[in-house]
Amino acid sequence: MQVTLKVMRHDPAKNAKPGWQTYSVEAEPMDRVLDLLHKVKWYQDSSLAFRRSCGHGICGSDAMVINGVNQLACKALVKNLGMLIQVEPLHGLPVEKDLIVNMEGFFAAYRSVKPYLINEEQPPERERLQSPEDRAVFDTSTKCILCAACTTSCPVFWVNGSYIGPAAIVQAHRFIFDSRDKGLRERMQALNASTGLWRCRTAYNCTEACPRGIPVTKAIEEVKRAMIYDRF
Ligand code: SF4
Ligand code: F3S
Ligand code: FES
Repeated sequence: MQVTLKVMRHDPAKNAKPGWQTYSVEAEPMDRVLDLLHKVKWYQDSSLAFRRSCGHGICGSDAMVINGVNQLACKALVKNLGMLIQVEPLHGLPVEKDLIVNMEGFFAAYRSVKPYLINEEQPPERERLQSPEDRAVFDTSTKCILCAACTTSCPVFWVNGSYIGPAAIVQAHRFIFDSRDKGLRERMQALNASTGLWRCRTAYNCTEACPRGIPVTKAIEEVKRAMIYDRF
């Protein structure tokens, strides 16, 4: 079947404004949007720019707005999208070219929560042990692939791009709730700042956007409570 793929094109080095470009692409129902983008790039228009790496929902590099919804192009199937498929870059991040956005600010927010184990205590002779029950507490937040679908779906982030965003808070959650970690207070600086997690208005867009099924809003609320009660 022939599918119409409508892509938001923009090369800020050449044009001030973006514009739509339409391609007619031969597709199967089980093709992914990433397959369609490849067909365009390889056989119709090599100037089309987009990111991808794993092709299987693991690397997080091909999040984009597909038919108005943040999704991974490698997981979005043609059969669920209809004959007209509209693709745009993630909202709220500067466009480098076409579907490629600048992720610098996103990763700066990620780094600001110190996404690594913090524990200055003398380690045991062999390893820091953790029970399966304690591991389960932060299991969902380990599934984050840093795709930015959550942060770029958040209305607070659209209004104020300096908001740390849900993805960074999920990363903070992954370590704050790790029974071996002692870094809550070190992470508070970024989380408690005027651009931190108190800006969240529980809009839930982030939870709906997450391709990994992470209950993002719940994680944010748990981090808020951890900061209020500081029981670590
Ligand atoms: Fe992507 Fe989900 Fe991680 Fe947000 S929480 S960056 S949507 S995987
Ligand atoms: Fe934004 Fe998610 Fe909070 S969409 S307002 S970070 S619940
Ligand atoms: Fe890696 Fe889609 S290409 S998540």
